[in-house]
Amino acid sequence: MPAALEVEAKGMRTSQFDVHRIREDFPILKQQVHGRPLVYLDSAATSQKPQVVIDAIKSYYAEQNANVHRGVHYLSQLATREYEDARVKIQRFINAAETHEIIYTRGATEGINLVAQSYGRKFVHEGDEIIISAMEHHSNIVPWQMLCEQNRAKLRVIPINDDGELLIEEFARMLNRNVKIVAVTHLSNALGTIVPVKRIIELAHSQDVPVLLDGAQAAPHLKVDVRELDCDFYAFSGHKMCGPTGIGVLYGKSHWLESMPPVLGGGDMISSVTFEKTTYNSLPYKFEAGTPNIEGAIGLGVAVDYLNSVGLDRIAAYEHELLDYATEVIGAIPGVKIVGAAREKSCVLSFTVDGIHPHDIGTVLDQEGIAVRAGHHCAQPVMKRFDVPATARASLAFYNTKEEIDALAVGVQKAIEVFS
Ligand SMILES: Cc1ncc(COP(=O)(O)O)c(C=O)c1O
Repeated sequence: MPAALEVEAKGMRTSQFDVHRIREDFPILKQQVHGRPLVYLDSAATSQKPQVVIDAIKSYYAEQNANVHRGVHYLSQLATREYEDARVKIQRFINAAETHEIIYTRGATEGINLVAQSYGRKFVHEGDEIIISAMEHHSNIVPWQMLCEQNRAKLRVIPINDDGELLIEEFARMLNRNVKIVAVTHLSNALGTIVPVKRIIELAHSQDVPVLLDGAQAAPHLKVDVRELDCDFYAFSGHKMCGPTGIGVLYGKSHWLESMPPVLGGGDMISSVTFEKTTYNSLPYKFEAGTPNIEGAIGLGVAVDYLNSVGLDRIAAYEHELLDYATEVIGAIPGVKIVGAAREKSCVLSFTVDGIHPHDIGTVLDQEGIAVRAGHHCAQPVMKRFDVPATARASLAFYNTKEEIDALAVGVQKAIEVFS
């Protein structure tokens, strides 16, 4: 079992996060890169995988492999049971009311596209408006632009301030009866801002406008309760939360999903087919055409078990501490500017260094065995808003340590020496 140690201190119950014990669960973290211990600070791009997830995928292929929902034979039933059990785990993980509100997708991108195309086809018409924010990942911009082009709707953008916080009052003013959906990120991958999504949902709902949350970054780091948030849709990716690539989830409230047309046609999503007419399967299968990513779903179920065993509250608290430390240590280096200073932040430290291109910082750090991302982070409008071509981004996870932040600081200083 992954572990964090509970201790009694000064009469109060506090918790100590045993990160070294947790690191034992991730075989890749034992690696050396360019002769240095790997310091993996790119979890916002994809997280590392614990051994239990790797084992689950291996044993699926070694012991359970068969297609789901299609066979009376033993293996097919076994695979189907595992695949559907994972759906229940995910339902509980985000506290969805119904299992059929969990639609398997390839990831957050596919989930957002599904809503844009399906909800959009039915509910968005000429002259309607769609609201997103200025800090969205391209995955939560482009699908809506495509829809606007198809249906002659208008895309509107909630502005952000210089700290990277959403201007809620502006948003309240943007709402009107033409707005058909609001789609915002829960946690920005480029700035680390935790968006006050509950307030956004309350405001949107007060005008009967549904809200989609892009949870790609939030699901691995914050305890997500879709019923408490009251969001209408929530999209996230397995690979960013210790699960496999190629699997993700779209949560949707039943009444929306029931009323929306399928986007992909094919096997499994039908109830009956004749050349004259096809009737569609019930939820969630209506949205899951074709053979799905079976091992991905099973692996994601195991990743959810793993995250639960560590505890999302403990993960969030530890990562908060880590981000505070990183902000202090990296922010104190002369010439470093941190991009994104929201009061509520998690896990992302985007920065620039005077006179050095972020790619050069990334290259020097790589030679030190440190993996960070350098670029626009699929958020070009954010780079434009802050007037930078790119940033270096260290993104944290609960398996990172303060020593790794110290190594990052030494690496950044080295880059400054090399390029000054
Ligand atoms: C905020 C945000 N939304 C959406 C995505 C897209 O996720 P995926 O590529 O897994 O579909 C990402 C990926 O980095 C992200 O950070």
